[in-house]
Amino acid sequence: MQKGLIQVTDSYERIVHWMLAISCLCLCVTGLGMMFQSFNFLGIIVGGLKNLKLIHNFTGLIFAASLILAIRMWWKEAGVFVFPEDLDWIKTAGGYLWHVDKVPETGKYNPGQKLFFLTVAACGVLMLITGLIMWFPEALPTSLVRWMYPLHALGFVVIFAFFFVHLYLGTIGNPGTVPAMLTGWMDRAVLKKQHPGWLKEMEHNGTLIVSGEEKKTSHHA
Ligand code: HEM
Repeated sequence: MQKGLIQVTDSYERIVHWMLAISCLCLCVTGLGMMFQSFNFLGIIVGGLKNLKLIHNFTGLIFAASLILAIRMWWKEAGVFVFPEDLDWIKTAGGYLWHVDKVPETGKYNPGQKLFFLTVAACGVLMLITGLIMWFPEALPTSLVRWMYPLHALGFVVIFAFFFVHLYLGTIGNPGTVPAMLTGWMDRAVLKKQHPGWLKEMEHNGTLIVSGEEKKTSHHA
């Protein structure tokens, strides 16, 4: 492996992320296949709409497990806003919407990423609850079950819209980011540009892991 790269995610983090991502996308596709006539052909591929529903429901269980693991893993770093640095970042919109001379430094995840995490967490839980009730409709009065359909559709619209923003920002929008979720090792220069505050934190705490170096390095050690 190339020397001097910095470890930004461990294998557990990457497995949970991809379980969440793959199950979420599978749910989006199979859900669309059931909801719209123009996507019904997806049912034909798996031998009928009933099978599509089975795949959707059981993938929902994988999504549920991934979501719980993801919330446990990320809530501290991506679920809590830290003031004043997060507010400073929000005031400049992270430099994404207008010219900013210097984007304020934040911790591991910036407020935009935190917003995405919180959206996935909140809408994910909404999808789970509404989905389970639709799966077992006898459990509740019909007048209540009826509400689950628009709520499930609403959660989908929000997650699906945010997904495209996440996909863009996690790939071509921020070149050099993809390795964070593929190998876990990132280029120092990219990290310095995208997460300068976090890099300093790791250097300060002596938790920086650099490829090709025997042990954790610390500029303060
Ligand atoms: C399939 C395409 C996807 C790609 C290429 C991708 C890429 C990435 C990358 C590169 C990061 C790390 C960002 C950084 O720290 O700089 C990340 C984080 C994350 N991803 Fe994904 N991702 C994908 C799909 C998804 C999906 C479908 C979900 C949720 C349903 C998701 C949820 C998250 C969350 C919650 C984080 C943690 C922090 C955050 O950015 O909010 N990802 N992803």
